[in-house]
Amino acid sequence: MKAYDYLVVGAGLFGAVFAHEAALRGKKIKVIEKRDHIAGNIYTHEVDGIQVHQYGAHIFHTSDKQIWDYVNQFATFNRYTNSPVANYKGKIYNLPFNMNTFNELWGTKTPQEAMNKIAEQKSAAKITDQPKNLEEQAISLVGTDIYQKLVKGYTEKQWGQKATDLPAFIIRRLPVRYTYDNNYFNDTYQGIPIGGYTQIVEKMLDHPQIDVKTGVDFFDNKEKYLKDYPRVIFTGMIDQYFNYQLGELEYRSLRFESEELSVDNYQGNAVVNYTDAETPFTRIIEHKHFEFGKGDKNKTVITREYPVDWKRGDEPYYPVNNKRNNGLYKQYTELAKQEGNVVFGGRLGQYRYYDMHQVIHAALLAVEYELG
Ligand code: FDA
Repeated sequence: MKAYDYLVVGAGLFGAVFAHEAALRGKKIKVIEKRDHIAGNIYTHEVDGIQVHQYGAHIFHTSDKQIWDYVNQFATFNRYTNSPVANYKGKIYNLPFNMNTFNELWGTKTPQEAMNKIAEQKSAAKITDQPKNLEEQAISLVGTDIYQKLVKGYTEKQWGQKATDLPAFIIRRLPVRYTYDNNYFNDTYQGIPIGGYTQIVEKMLDHPQIDVKTGVDFFDNKEKYLKDYPRVIFTGMIDQYFNYQLGELEYRSLRFESEELSVDNYQGNAVVNYTDAETPFTRIIEHKHFEFGKGDKNKTVITREYPVDWKRGDEPYYPVNNKRNNGLYKQYTELAKQEGNVVFGGRLGQYRYYDMHQVIHAALLAVEYELG
C-alpha cells in the first residue's frame, strides 16, 4: 500500500480543505467518500445549464477577509445577495423583517411607526421577562403579527413541534431591521460561485499528493483503516463512529423534491419560504436565480424542501443542539480524546451547525494544529 500520512473520511468542505492544505505541506492523503460524488452538502450539478444545489440553497457569506480570499482562489463569485421572500397564504412579504415587511403588513412608512406597532403588540401580549417557550420569546421580540404570519408555521414545520413546546433559547434573536433593506445577511462579503460549488472542492482535491475514492464507506472497513493509516481525519457522525454506544445524537432531516419545468421563470426569486402551517414544505428554491437566470431560457429547476424527523440511515442535516444532545456530544468527545490518531471535524464530527465560512475556518485551524 502507498504510504499515506492521512486518511480523510468525507469529501465535504472540511475534508477537502484539510486534504488540500496538508498536501501543500507535503503530506500524502487518501480521501474516501461514501456518496458517489465529492463536495458533501455543498455539491452542485448542472441541469439545462443551471447549477442545481442538490442539498439545499447554499449562499456563501462571511465578514472574514482571509476566508473570502481563501475561497476566491477556487472560484469566481457573483454578487448574489440573499433576499428571500415569504409566502403566507398567497400574500408575499419581504425578509428579513424590515421596513418593506412592515409596510406590507401594516402600511407603516417610517421606522418610528413600525417601532410603535411592534411595541404595542409586545405589550398587549403581556409576556414576562422570562419567556417560557419559543412562542413567547418570538412575540416578545417581534410582536404578534410577524410571529403569527412569518415565524410560527415555518418554525413548527422545521422542528416538527409546536412553538409552545419548543424551548425559548432556539430563537435568541430575530433579525429586525428598520431600513428598507432586503439583504438577509449583514456580512461584508457574499455571493455564489459562478459555475457552482463542486468545482471548489474539485480544485482543492486536484493535487498529486491526494487520492480520492467515492462510493466508499469508512464503516465497511473501520478497523483496517485505523490500522493502515497513521492519522485519520473523520468528518462523519461522531456517535456512529463509536457505534452509538452512549446513545444516539438527534438530528433533523430534510427531503428534497426537485422538478424540471418548461418555463423560464417560475417564482421570480431564488428562495421563497412558505410560512403557513398547512403547506407541508418550508421553501421552494428556483436554482437559476442564484446565477441571475443563467441556463436554458425555456427551462427551470425548482426544489421543494420538506423537513422530516431523522432516524438512523437518514441524512442528518441539522444537529438538534438541546441540553440532552449537547451533554451526550460532550461524553462522545471524551471517548474521542482516547482515539489517539483520529481527529473529528466538520458539522457531523463536531455535532454543530457550521456555515461554509465557519467550516473552512475550522479546517484551517485543524491543519494548523496538526502541521503548523
Ligand atoms: P459535509 O456533510 O458537507 O461533508 C461530510 C462528508 O462526509 C459527506 O460528503 C458525507 O457523505 C461523508 N461521510 C460521512 N460519513 C462517512 C463515512 N462513514 N464514510 C465515508 N464518507 C462519509 N452554509 C452556508 O454558509 N450558507 C448556506 O446558505 C448554507 N445552506 C445550507 C442549507 C442546508 C439545507 C444545510 C443542511 C446546510 C447549509 N449550509 C450553508 C451549511 C453547509 O452545508 C456546511 O457548512 C458544509 O457543508 C459542512 O461541510 P462538512 O465537510 O462539515 O460536512
